[in-house]
Amino acid sequence: MGMLDGKVAVLTGGASGIGRATAVRFAEEGADVVVGDLQDGAETVALVEKTGRSARYVRTDTTSEADCDALVAAAVEAFGRVDVGVAAAGIATAQGASNIRTRAARGDATHVVNIEPDAFRRVLDVNVLGVLFTDRALARQMLAQGDGGSIVNIASTAAKIPLAGASPYCVSKAGVWMLTKVMALELATTGVRVNAVGPGYTDTPMIAGLEDDEPAYTTAMSITPMNRLGTAAESAAACLYLASDESSFTTGQILHPAGGQFTG
Ligand SMILES: NC(=O)c1ccc[n+]([C@@H]2O[C@H](COP(=O)([O-])OP(=O)(O)OC[C@H]3O[C@@H](n4cnc5c(N)ncnc54)[C@H](O)[C@@H]3O)[C@@H](O)[C@H]2O)c1
Repeated sequence: MGMLDGKVAVLTGGASGIGRATAVRFAEEGADVVVGDLQDGAETVALVEKTGRSARYVRTDTTSEADCDALVAAAVEAFGRVDVGVAAAGIATAQGASNIRTRAARGDATHVVNIEPDAFRRVLDVNVLGVLFTDRALARQMLAQGDGGSIVNIASTAAKIPLAGASPYCVSKAGVWMLTKVMALELATTGVRVNAVGPGYTDTPMIAGLEDDEPAYTTAMSITPMNRLGTAAESAAACLYLASDESSFTTGQILHPAGGQFTG
């Protein structure tokens, strides 16, 4: 028996990193999977199919509400319903690169006194509005089905820890965390649960090369008591708990696979 036997899961950001690992883990636990991403999801589909479950990829830009609605509609068309959603699509900076290497000196483009409004806006568009559009497409479908569901938003420890040089990312992840709580409250009596996973530094393309950048890696590890990067599979395991019925009395919570970042 898998933890998600017979369930249908929709994941944004499922072509890479945490989204892909979660799609595969969900399939191993018995779910059919629909992956939405800007990038091609063929590799994720192949990995899911290896587990014996079915998968679809739908090209999706989560900043488009119509795309998010079409993603959920495609899942319903393929598999008849949606039980679980994971909003994992996200960016660290408008350029797509990680910015945790910056020291945020006064002259840096990422320093809050210099950052371009469009660069700030782009991160909020993808990380906050993209999650809103994803979540409400999922919630509308789950409400229409009438028998509940589970939505998991990928936030970050940056929802709670300010990182110099990453103002749009931190603001966006704090927004995801608050959106999670508001949605959980608004949907609490409906059976639709909304929770968040807030990973710490996790070995995915988003932070590629961090380990080779000695000063940046030292800074990252100085707030990570376990003194290593997390894996995408470790975030996927947190998503699995929140997606499954094992967390049936849990909503509006955030779980941090973060190597002890909040121990003190
Ligand atoms: N890697 C980390 O250290 C870390 C830590 C905390 C939180 N996170 C969060 O985890 C989530 C997944 O990131 P990851 O680390 O797996 O990085 P990743 O870059 O491997 O995956 C992100 C995916 O999101 C997709 N994406 C970006 N913008 C999109 C859009 N507008 N529409 C659809 N898809 C879009 C990308 O194409 C990519 O496939 C993100 O929300 C990220 O902020 C990552």
